[in-house]
Amino acid sequence: MSVRPGALALVAAALGLAAGAAGQPPDLATGERVFRDNCAVCHGAAGDGRGMAAHHFKSPPRDLTKGRFKFRSTASGQVPTDADLARTIVLGIPSTGMVPQNHLSEAEVQAVIAFVKSLSPRFAATLSPKVVTIPPPPAATSEAVARGAAAYVKGECAECHGKDARGDGPSAKDLSVKPSDLTRRPLKSGAAARDIVRTLLTGLDGTPMPSYDQVLEGDELWALAYWLAARGGPPESTDDERAGWHVVKMHQRR
Ligand code: HEC
Ligand code: HEC
Repeated sequence: MSVRPGALALVAAALGLAAGAAGQPPDLATGERVFRDNCAVCHGAAGDGRGMAAHHFKSPPRDLTKGRFKFRSTASGQVPTDADLARTIVLGIPSTGMVPQNHLSEAEVQAVIAFVKSLSPRFAATLSPKVVTIPPPPAATSEAVARGAAAYVKGECAECHGKDARGDGPSAKDLSVKPSDLTRRPLKSGAAARDIVRTLLTGLDGTPMPSYDQVLEGDELWALAYWLAARGGPPESTDDERAGWHVVKMHQRR
């Protein structure tokens, strides 16, 4: 994922602030205001994903009251860490309506994270979610890439993503969240080999994309990631992303 260095610094700073504020109660009133002003147009004032602009998007804004998150560093079924949420908020989710919210100050990012966490009791129930361990990468040789093609078969990825990874497998038509075309870029969860390994370990909760932790070996996960990373085309912008920018611009003008 290519990001502006400033945005990454903001994520780092927001996290530093979180550590610094340890022990202090999160500022929920500020968080609620930040959410109302910047997020509610898509996610709804109650965070249920039913904001007035929600109908613009093929991939709809998340219902944050469910407490299920796709983009995490944590095991399947676990809530995300504050760092995961900060990354989603500040950098956005590539190719979707969730465009970067990098105009927020560090304090605002922290406050809105606290507010998002107050929307689902799942956060209070899991104080320290289990973070997945990314296995060490094997050398990215042409043999590894070939092993990746074999792991794609072993993992039965084609059932959903199709034999050429274009998102058109036999099960695709029955799924409410459509399998991604893995040859397109950007990917929502990042397209670097390490991002793909993380996605395969965590799964994307709330969607049919399962976790392959304990299903495929570490070497197989990396091989798959090398194979998929090599299949990506140039980055394209999407209708959802354009709609996201449009909604944010119109909203700020009012
Ligand atoms: C222009 C519309 C829009 C705005 C504004 C917006 N979001 Fe989103 N958000 C989305 C969409 C669409 C998704 C789902 C993308 C997907 O998974 O395909 C999403 C997903 C998310 C997720 C889920 C990430 C995960 O791991 O599943 C979080 C958390 C989130 N948004 C927080 C926020 C916060 C906080 C704000 C305000 C600071 C905000 N969003 C502003 C559209 C928006
Ligand atoms: C049961 C169906 C199913 C199977 C099996 C499956 N996937 Fe997925 N996968 C999905 C769906 C649905 C999504 C899209 C989630 C979304 O956009 O919110 C997805 C998303 C992904 C993503 C993230 C794309 C992005 O934009 O970030 C990757 C990478 C991926 N799958 C790889 C694989 C690989 C490799 C395998 C096999 C080891 C596999 N998947 C098996 C259904 C499946």
